[in-house]
Amino acid sequence: MALNIRIEKTKAPKPKPDPKTLGFGRLFSDHMFLMNYSSKEGWHDARIVPYGPLALDPSSMVFHYAQEVFEGMKTYKAKDGKILLFRPDKNISRMNRSLDRLCMPAVPEDDFMQALLELIKVEKDWIPEGDETSLYIRPFMIATDPFIGVKPSDTYLFAIILSPVGAYYPEGINPVKIYIETEYVRAVRGGLGFTKAGANYAASIKSQVKAHDLGYTQVLWLDGVERKYIDEVGTMNVFFKIDGKVITPFLEGSVLPGVTRDSVINVLRDKGYTVEERRVSVDELCEAHKNGKLEEAFGTGTAAVISPVGEINYEGSKMVINDFKIGPTAQMLYNEITGIQTGKIPDRFNWTVEVK
Ligand code: COI
Repeated sequence: MALNIRIEKTKAPKPKPDPKTLGFGRLFSDHMFLMNYSSKEGWHDARIVPYGPLALDPSSMVFHYAQEVFEGMKTYKAKDGKILLFRPDKNISRMNRSLDRLCMPAVPEDDFMQALLELIKVEKDWIPEGDETSLYIRPFMIATDPFIGVKPSDTYLFAIILSPVGAYYPEGINPVKIYIETEYVRAVRGGLGFTKAGANYAASIKSQVKAHDLGYTQVLWLDGVERKYIDEVGTMNVFFKIDGKVITPFLEGSVLPGVTRDSVINVLRDKGYTVEERRVSVDELCEAHKNGKLEEAFGTGTAAVISPVGEINYEGSKMVINDFKIGPTAQMLYNEITGIQTGKIPDRFNWTVEVK
């Protein structure tokens, strides 16, 4: 049965921002979707209400033990006026996998999709029109039991908020500098690495600050056990083009199964590239660089899309990649992925969903 979503419209709509000045994640639209869960009632009280502060008990479990999961996706306005979502089914199923790992209740997939579509329809005028812009969608769930013992909460709040955005990195599609972290780790197999739990990002901030202080945009994480193999970059999955082949770390529990990662693998294979999903050691990377075989490196993510990597710092030695220029593979992928997302090129993979 379809969700019964109550809609309460704001009496004070905000002015829409100038699409040319959008950064990432500081502006929010006029409305948000909320829905509550209790173990007795299940999911109930689905509503779209004016965007604003949430009233929460200070003892709400999320504040103490970080029982929280989120997602990130984007919606675009195509030239012909169609509103497009990119692979929302992948984000919905990933959110439910993350929720399961954190002992939180799944959101039924049809209800999640209905909530997304209804909210986007209400907020369609918030989708910015302009190159490199989109309406970023941030679904999240928090544990709301007022209790400070450690256990799964009995009550939860599921919310979706929307943010008109431009490029995630100030560099845009220009190459970023990445710092290989050898002191701290982000995740270990068996932990939360494959989930979009806020806790993963909390664990990453210390290194991100260190990297920024050293003049780097992001951290490249090594595996948490041997600190030898590459996992992912702060907010992205990572790919290397070595001697003609494209290589990305395989998903072994500590790496986020990125939707853009999967899309990139599909586009590359469709275009005839050889793609290997396997362990990549930092030694292999250094060796390939030394021999002139490290042709390109780039990150992939919903927020960042495709982000070429122009320099990697490993224990103080700097590897400059492709003369710090955008490589042809990264550029092709950027054009293909954003082209499909925005309806500029035909969607031969059936990835886009029209909001109507
Ligand atoms: C995304 O790419 O959507 C993410 O969730 C990364 C985020 C931490 C900005």
